[in-house]
Amino acid sequence: MVKICLILLVFIQISYGEVFKMKEKIINGNQENILNVPYQVSIQYKSFHVCGGSIISNQFVLTAAHCVYLRSISELSISLGSSYHYLPNKIIKIHKFKVHDSYNSSTYDNDLAILLLVSKINFGPNILPISLPFQNETLPSGALGTVSGWGQTLETMKRLPEKLRSIQIPTISNERCAILNAPNLVTNNMICAKDLSGGRRDTCQGDSGSGFVVNGKLFGVTSWGIGCGRLNKAGVYTRISLYRDWIKLYTNI
Ligand code: ARG
Repeated sequence: MVKICLILLVFIQISYGEVFKMKEKIINGNQENILNVPYQVSIQYKSFHVCGGSIISNQFVLTAAHCVYLRSISELSISLGSSYHYLPNKIIKIHKFKVHDSYNSSTYDNDLAILLLVSKINFGPNILPISLPFQNETLPSGALGTVSGWGQTLETMKRLPEKLRSIQIPTISNERCAILNAPNLVTNNMICAKDLSGGRRDTCQGDSGSGFVVNGKLFGVTSWGIGCGRLNKAGVYTRISLYRDWIKLYTNI
């Protein structure tokens, strides 16, 4: 009996420690002010936050294809300029969107969409566009990216945080990522990032569409993962440098 109790006690302590570690802290990030990431927007469906996005000009926003795919345009809007997704500073509706023609909704390959807003954005310190990489601009593996968003702070906690959060995570090679995330397909159109220190920093549901920014340029758009913050998995982002010409074609930017 004593033995069973002891085993139980140890077990409870281990699971408590696990929950506690993951609790503090997107996953294990910190609260962020929109003034530090003024390109960040919340994409809303029926007035509820569903995804992030990044302002790339005074009328275009970049997000993940799966954020808008098959959604009715009249129910979509973006909220800009606020650190709180439920307390908008400004709401703008979407006039039309372009989902990448080669977007694959089962593998999330080419997970990218451009949103054209119904009215022009007035820039301010809390609302500004982010620069794009050049076509085929490379990113060394290990490059540290910043991702912000209002996504879940725990894989199991569906309730979203009220305030914007951000993390910094390094990219890893696609070879390594393909091994970690197998059997899911990791194509060259994707970039992976992973907290190598074991700190479980990662994006999660609700962060999709948000930018992965390195040296002030939008190199990635949050796309998918297996669970969130798992030690042996990596977060996957759309590789924006491969779509620079495609973006130019539709936006003239
Ligand atoms: N697909 C998710 C979304 O719709 C993003 C998931 C990112 N997951 C991860 N473990 N990095 O919000």
